[in-house]
Amino acid sequence: PRAQIGVTGLAVMGSNIARNFARHGYTVALHNRSVAKTDALLAEHGNDGDFVRTETVEQFVAALEKPRRVLIMVKAGDATDAVIEELADAMEPGDIIIDGGNALYTDTIRREAALRDRGLHFVGAGISGGEEGALNGPSIMPGGPAESYTALGPLLESVAAQVDGTPCCTHIGPDGSGHFVKMVHNGIEYADMQLIGEAYHLLRDALGYDAGTIADVFTEWNSGTLESYLIEITADVLRQTDADTGKPLVDLIVDAAEQKGTGRWTVKAALDLGIPVTGIAEAVFARALSGSRTQRAAAQGLAAGTLGAAPTDAAQFTEDIRAALYASKIVAYAQGFDQIAAGSAEYGWNVDRAALATIWRGGCIIRAQFLNRIKEAYDQDQNLPSLILAPYFRDAIAAGIDSWRRVVVTATTLGIPIPAFASSLSYYDGLRAERLPAALTQGQRDFFGAHTYERTDKPGTFHTLWSGDRSEVQA
Ligand code: 6PG
Repeated sequence: PRAQIGVTGLAVMGSNIARNFARHGYTVALHNRSVAKTDALLAEHGNDGDFVRTETVEQFVAALEKPRRVLIMVKAGDATDAVIEELADAMEPGDIIIDGGNALYTDTIRREAALRDRGLHFVGAGISGGEEGALNGPSIMPGGPAESYTALGPLLESVAAQVDGTPCCTHIGPDGSGHFVKMVHNGIEYADMQLIGEAYHLLRDALGYDAGTIADVFTEWNSGTLESYLIEITADVLRQTDADTGKPLVDLIVDAAEQKGTGRWTVKAALDLGIPVTGIAEAVFARALSGSRTQRAAAQGLAAGTLGAAPTDAAQFTEDIRAALYASKIVAYAQGFDQIAAGSAEYGWNVDRAALATIWRGGCIIRAQFLNRIKEAYDQDQNLPSLILAPYFRDAIAAGIDSWRRVVVTATTLGIPIPAFASSLSYYDGLRAERLPAALTQGQRDFFGAHTYERTDKPGTFHTLWSGDRSEVQA
């Protein structure tokens, strides 16, 4: 046996990561359910490095050095369970199975426990960066037993993206932690994309800019604090013209956004943890609304009321949109990192948020300059109650708050939907509010269900005898 790593599941992501390992000098055993895919990879890219072609799981496992390291790159769900089962039967105690798919973290917790009982190490690893990242350097978020990282870490770190000489890969924590943080990464990706979409919508419909002009705005923004992969590709997408019609491609794409589930999972998990990830939730729901094609068709022509006038100072309003986008982005990341802290506490993972921000600086879809600021914030204070409270972000929001409010007001008077901008601003105002209407909520709950309340002026739990003489009793 001479392969240092095996990859099974040779669709695009699997093939590209296998090639990435080979290009870094590792001998890579290849396996796929149908051998045709393995042969196609070898025919096209066999020169990338040293591959071992295998047909059966037994051959595949036999090709690997011990402790064996196998990376599974198949569709999340039942397919993953089936492959794990076959591999586990052929492998030996001490061997490592890595699931590089977008698995649900609770599945990863279950699989890790089952394989631990059989003496095998199971590593649920979030891998971000799409096809290009898999080939040239993704961001890798491996969970699982810490011992497995000794045998696995150096390999993963060498194929990961590198930023300032630091690999975008670190051990996240036990069992499902790697897939949990990848899930939240995707939730943040949804929020980022929705915010960009709202900015685009305003530039298009409030200012009347065409796609090419908006592309230039995004290119300009990409040289400032918003610098990021998603802003960069936004300009590229907007600049694309359709070969047949000569029109901007974006104007020809059906405006119904799809989703494969990781954003939805993030929101579900956040609901269970009680963490308000309002930016991510609005993004998931905005995709759902865009996809409600029948309802949308039936709703054409509904009253818009008296709409306001378009902004007169286009340059100022463009700057306002930029500031609103940046402030809302800070909120989305603050919420996502809160969810990671809550998940970490719930499952005892000890996730290091500074280290996580570090490995998200490169390789992944949400990679951005901004992640350096998040890393610095958690380096300065590991127990920061909210990213919004870090001096850098506090000042950044203070600088943009007037713009943010103007954008929300203007969009509303123009009838342009901005769910993520508006809800992020409301979250911010909610967080900084001295007194929320929740006092009334508590009063109502006590009225109809004797659910009790606390008082601001004395300790204890109280109940008012609402249907009696309305005196107060200590609960
Ligand atoms: C990544 C991406 C990747 C995938 C998304 C797409 O980090 O490389 O997030 O995992 O492209 O899951 O998600 P939707 O299809 O749900 O938009």
